[in-house]
Amino acid sequence: MATDVITLITRDHRKVETLFERLKKKEGDPRATVAELHALLTAHARAEEDRVYPGIDAHHEVEEHKEAEVLLDALVRAEPGTAEFEEALGKLVEAVNHHVEEEEGELLPKLASQTDAKELERLGAAFQKRRDEELTALTGGAGPRSSADGEATKAELYKQAQQADIPGRSQMDKEELEEALRKAGS
Ligand SMILES: [Fe+2]
Ligand SMILES: [Fe+2]
Repeated sequence: MATDVITLITRDHRKVETLFERLKKKEGDPRATVAELHALLTAHARAEEDRVYPGIDAHHEVEEHKEAEVLLDALVRAEPGTAEFEEALGKLVEAVNHHVEEEEGELLPKLASQTDAKELERLGAAFQKRRDEELTALTGGAGPRSSADGEATKAELYKQAQQADIPGRSQMDKEELEEALRKAGS
């Protein structure tokens, strides 16, 4: 169901905050939550950059996405339960919250003021399509929530393969990643 781009972007922001809370309160499996966060943040940022930012001046926001990507990467690499993980989480939360505040406080109101309702709906559909394509690619088509059901997504397996430094991992499909990880004993 189509809706306007402001609503869709804001909805993702709230979802990201929910995942941050889950990590801060140490609820559930932190690896699964980090994988879900990684997929959502990455897909959201790509869709903004490709479908929303080009219509407005958003150089500063693109820079912030790059910074967040580096911090997200550090969180993915960190071992849950360690001081390193907590530090990486703290830095990412701070950077993303700041970015979200700017987006919702400045960028989105500016977009809303210079765009009519029909165009906001059109942008919403384009944003969502791009975001969902990216999410599917990152999660192997299973959707970000499958991680909560106990079965690892391709993104999670890929993260584990990165940590285990498995050669050729970027060319592997889900089954090959599982096999390689089994052999590596992780
Ligand atoms: Fe955003
Ligand atoms: Fe953004």
